[in-house]
Amino acid sequence: MPFRIVLGDITKLSVDAIVNAANSSLLGGGGVDGAIHRAAGPRLLEECRTLHGCRTGEAKITRGYDLPAKYVIHTVGPIWSGGAHGEEELLRSAYRNSLHLALKNNCESVAFPMISAGVYGYPKDQALEVAVSTIRAFLEKNEMDVTLVIFDRESFRFDVRLYSEISGYLRNTYEDERAMSGSGSLLGDMARSVAFGGAAGSRRSIFSPKKKESKACRNAMDSAPMAEAPMEASDEAVAMADEERSAPTEPRMYCAQAMSAPMDLTHALENLDESFSQALLRMIDARGLKDSECYKKANIDRKLFSKIRSDIHYRPSKQTVLAFAVALELDLQETEAFLKKAGFALSHSNKADVIVEYFIANGNYDMYSINEALFAFDQNLLGA
Ligand code: APR
Repeated sequence: MPFRIVLGDITKLSVDAIVNAANSSLLGGGGVDGAIHRAAGPRLLEECRTLHGCRTGEAKITRGYDLPAKYVIHTVGPIWSGGAHGEEELLRSAYRNSLHLALKNNCESVAFPMISAGVYGYPKDQALEVAVSTIRAFLEKNEMDVTLVIFDRESFRFDVRLYSEISGYLRNTYEDERAMSGSGSLLGDMARSVAFGGAAGSRRSIFSPKKKESKACRNAMDSAPMAEAPMEASDEAVAMADEERSAPTEPRMYCAQAMSAPMDLTHALENLDESFSQALLRMIDARGLKDSECYKKANIDRKLFSKIRSDIHYRPSKQTVLAFAVALELDLQETEAFLKKAGFALSHSNKADVIVEYFIANGNYDMYSINEALFAFDQNLLGA
């Protein structure tokens, strides 16, 4: 997964490089600096001595010694002094220079702490925004797995307004297993609530059918039948089926042919012969997207996308399907039809599904915001 947020201790991560929030002497200190030096052992300090310090916003690299990580990239974040002394640009430079140094050293994976968000006093919510937006800009142009490590929940300051809106939505919508009356599917619920005059008022107001989009593929998918939700394939079963099959690759011209004929997407999606990956490739073409634009927006790495593209029988996980639904900006009905292709359905007894449903129902397709929200509610992130 190109970008993930995890809770934990950065010194334990087996990645190519971990980033140290150091001070300009590079001779160790407290916080994550102290933890990294303790875990790496004395040889790290010996090598740091040869670097003769580091300026704020810059980055230098050493070996990782006793750490599971191969390298340590030492960077110095700004000390917060109110925000009017170039702190934001210096913090961005610390992330950017660390990422470019990782790239230069052929690192495929790198992990960051929240630079300057501890002793250096950078406001945690602003530090998070700078970290995520700088990493995002880098990943739009480069391939790398980047992890942002949150040491304790206290350090993660998610957008308060958004947090309370999602909490309210969860209160109205999320039903734990016990309360579930087997409705299973989101559309099943919607059909029932509309059929009974919107029994669950809040649900109908959120799910009142959207104005039909003009886009061909959207119209087509809107009228997808509201079937009972199929039994959700277990992730284990899906994971096992993820093995690449040797099925011959359907030439991409298949989609081109489809696009040349005025194909109605409903028919295509109802066409059970059409697989998840064929539907995906068709919708990428229908939206005039480049493959890379789509998989980057979906927080899916290039290798996995190539696997999906080359195997028409590829069986994705639910997170992968939802990630592409967000990247393609599908509405709820299109998302359900797309999930059905892979044997899944949105469920109100799954908190992560309800959170993703909140974003889609509100037309917010920003994958980084969705993943920050999923992290804030202790759920698995979208992407793969
Ligand atoms: N793993 C991941 N994150 C950690 C760990 C750890 N083991 N320990 C601390 N953190 C987090 C903190 O919770 C904080 O969110 O790292 C973030 C940065 O905090 P600091 O380590 O205090 O770094 P910073 O705010 O950049 O201040 C740097 O502190 O430790 C000294 O020598 C360092 O002088 C420098 C200053």
